[in-house]
Amino acid sequence: MCMRLAIVLIICIFLGLLSCDEDSTSPTVTSASPLASTFTYSPTLSLQQAAPFPVGLATQSGRIQHTRHTDILERDFNSITAEYEMKQQTIHTFEGQYNWQEPDALVDYADSRGIRVHGHALIWHQSTPSWLETQVETDSAFEAIIQSYIQEVVSRYGNKVASWDVVNEAFDDEGGWRNTIFRQRMGEDYIAKCFQYAHEADSSILLFYNEYGTIWNEGKLAVMMEMVDDLLLRGIPIDGVGLQMHVGYQFPALSLMKRAVDAIVERGLLVHFSEVDIRVNPDGKLTRLTEERAIAQENRLKEIVQLYQDIPADLQYGITFWGLRDNESWVINFWGNPDWPLLYTPDYDAKWAHRGFVEAFD
Ligand code: G3I
Repeated sequence: MCMRLAIVLIICIFLGLLSCDEDSTSPTVTSASPLASTFTYSPTLSLQQAAPFPVGLATQSGRIQHTRHTDILERDFNSITAEYEMKQQTIHTFEGQYNWQEPDALVDYADSRGIRVHGHALIWHQSTPSWLETQVETDSAFEAIIQSYIQEVVSRYGNKVASWDVVNEAFDDEGGWRNTIFRQRMGEDYIAKCFQYAHEADSSILLFYNEYGTIWNEGKLAVMMEMVDDLLLRGIPIDGVGLQMHVGYQFPALSLMKRAVDAIVERGLLVHFSEVDIRVNPDGKLTRLTEERAIAQENRLKEIVQLYQDIPADLQYGITFWGLRDNESWVINFWGNPDWPLLYTPDYDAKWAHRGFVEAFD
C-alpha cells in the first residue's frame, strides 16, 4: 500500500511541477484556463509607441527574471514602479540596516535599458517596519530616523530614480488627516518635512504626493489640495500629484476624475495616473470575464486615456498600470473575488483593454 501511495505521490509531484507557471511569483495558471485567449488581440502598436507620454508598469524584482514578463515590459512600457520593493518595510526592515538587494535589482534593470524609474513610496503608514512603530524612544529620535531614511534612499539612487512618491495616502476616506505614526511623532507638519528632506537629499528629483479615492471623494480631494496649496504657499518643493486610479468599469464618473485632474493642473503640477487598474467584477458576481465586461473595460480605458490627453503636455507625467497580468493583480486578494483588472491575460495575451489604450490616440 505504502509503495503504491509513494508512486502516486511522486507522479502527482511530477505533474504539479510540469503545470507550474514559469513565473514563480504568481499563482500557477494553466493555459487550459477558459479565458486564456478570450477577448484578446494581437497589438500592432505598443503602448509606448501609441502614447506621447511615459507609460509605466508596476513590476517586481521576481518578475523581471522572466523573459515573458520583460519582453512585454520592454515593448509596452518606458517607466517602472516597484510594486513593493522600494517601500520602507522592505528597505528598512531592521533598525540600522538597509536592504538594497531588491530595489537595486529593479533600478539596475531599468537603468541598463533606459527605462525611467518612479520611486514608490518613501513614507506610507501601511509599509512601516514594526520596529519603527515600537522601538523608538523619543519623537526627536523618530524624526531623525525618518530624515536619515529619506535622505539615504534618495541619495543612493540619485537620478536613476527620476521621481518619488514622498508621502502616500495621508488622508482618510472621511476627508480628514489619517492619524498615522508620522503625524503622531513628527507633528502635523510631517508631510512638509518629508518633502524638504527628500529635496535636500537631491534637488534634481521630482517629488510627488500620491493618493487614492480623490477621483470620487470630494472631501478627500479638498483636504489633499489644501495640503498641496500649503506646500506651494510656503515654497516647500512639490512637483506633482499621483492619482492612483484604482477604478471600476463604471465607477467613478469621468467628470469626477476630471475634477481631480483639473485641481492639479490649475496649480501647474504634474499629473501621474500612478496605479491604474479597472475592476470589471466589483460586485463579485462573475466567475469568468464576459464579452460585455471586456468591451466595457476597453471603452473605459479609452476614455481615461482621452481624459489624460487633455492635460497640458508639460504636465503629463505618465500613466502607470498597477501590474501586467490579471492574475497578478492585488485586486483579487484584496477584494476576495475573481477579477480581470489589467491589460494582459495569465498567458501574456494582450486583452481588448490594451486596444482601448492604443485607440485612444486615433
Ligand atoms: O513576494 C514577496 C516575498 O518574496 C517576500 O519574501 C515577502 C517579504 O515580505 O514579500 C512578498 O511580497 C509581497 C508583495 O506584495 C508581492 O506579492 C509583500 O509581502 C506584500 O506586502 C506586497 O503587497 C503590496 C502592497 O502594496 C503592500 O506593499 C502589493 O503587492 C501592492 O500591489 C500594494 O500596492 C499598493 C500601493 O503601494 C499603494 N496604493 C494601493 C496599492 C494596493 O494596495
